[in-house]
Amino acid sequence: MATKVVATAFGGPEVLSVVQADVPEPGPGEVVIAVKAAGINPFDHKVVAGATGAAPERLPLPVGLEVAGMVTAVGPDATGPAGPVTVGDEVVAQPVTGGYADTVVVPAGVVVPKPPAVDWPVAGSILMVGGTAEHALQVADAKAGETLLVHGAAGSVGQIAVQLAVRDGVRVIGTAGTSNHELLRSYGAIPVTYGPGLADRVRAIAPDGVDAAIDTVGTDEAVDTSLELVTDHRRIVSIAAFGRADSGIVLISGDDPETHVRANAWRRLLPAAADGSLKVVVTRTYPLVEAAEALQFVRDGHAGGKVVLVP
Ligand SMILES: NC(=O)c1ccc[n+]([C@@H]2O[C@H](COP(=O)([O-])OP(=O)(O)OC[C@H]3O[C@@H](n4cnc5c(N)ncnc54)[C@H](OP(=O)(O)O)[C@@H]3O)[C@@H](O)[C@H]2O)c1
Repeated sequence: MATKVVATAFGGPEVLSVVQADVPEPGPGEVVIAVKAAGINPFDHKVVAGATGAAPERLPLPVGLEVAGMVTAVGPDATGPAGPVTVGDEVVAQPVTGGYADTVVVPAGVVVPKPPAVDWPVAGSILMVGGTAEHALQVADAKAGETLLVHGAAGSVGQIAVQLAVRDGVRVIGTAGTSNHELLRSYGAIPVTYGPGLADRVRAIAPDGVDAAIDTVGTDEAVDTSLELVTDHRRIVSIAAFGRADSGIVLISGDDPETHVRANAWRRLLPAAADGSLKVVVTRTYPLVEAAEALQFVRDGHAGGKVVLVP
């Protein structure tokens, strides 16, 4: 039997239940993966809460967007972006449906090889946030020598956006709670505490102005500070302020038609994680049976990095 975690109602993390199911059989173009790590994302608690649809016929609702694991079975024509997928391959798959499980069946089109040097928790949690960070950086278009403001810089998306921008010679100012300032300094960013007076604190650090901003938080403070400091509002990109669509900033999501940058992000992110040039902080791992506690920790909003289920 396979074990998986499903939402049995729409609500808080407490609606998650561990259930048994038949081990899935792969159909044409499908791959079965024995999951070693399943990344948790804030989007998961929004889905469980019914934010993407709360029709009762969707229940029980599978949860989880990304996994890493070992291929245990393949259907006919199981070819991924890197070539044919075979039994025994160590792989990463994203996006998937129902990643909170010890066994998943996924389309081969989302299955890519896991570099041996990338450990399972990192492999199972890097692509969703990393692809989002790459997408946000592409839209913000910050170039070497420019100044980029990242809101929520110590979050999972923020940490990757900071590291990639610093690598490209961008001067990065990142908002975070004080306990995360040292981490941001270690990435080469200039930390600044969020909260009242943020715009003045950023101005003091960047008297010549801010060229672009990435908001991973979605608060009015993040959006309004960006609007105040960045002249070209089309270089303010948010992944979370969907209530501020009328402000002139650019909102991005995985549903955007131009998201090939996300689909191809594995080609850059996995080698960078393997050679150590990109750090992914995994702050906690939980067994599958503690998925509700894990999702609650992510929902609280200060995980400081990735939270991963290890079935
Ligand atoms: N649109 C998309 O394509 C897309 C894709 C991925 C994620 N998202 C969304 O983006 C958001 C961030 O995702 P994530 O995975 O990076 O989350 P995360 O790892 O949980 O990070 C959240 C960060 O927000 C910071 N924060 C909390 N309250 C804040 C405040 N009032 N002001 C400034 N910063 C604050 C926290 O910083 P401190 O710990 O330093 O306080 C924390 O580091 C989520 O809402 C997620 O659903 C959207």
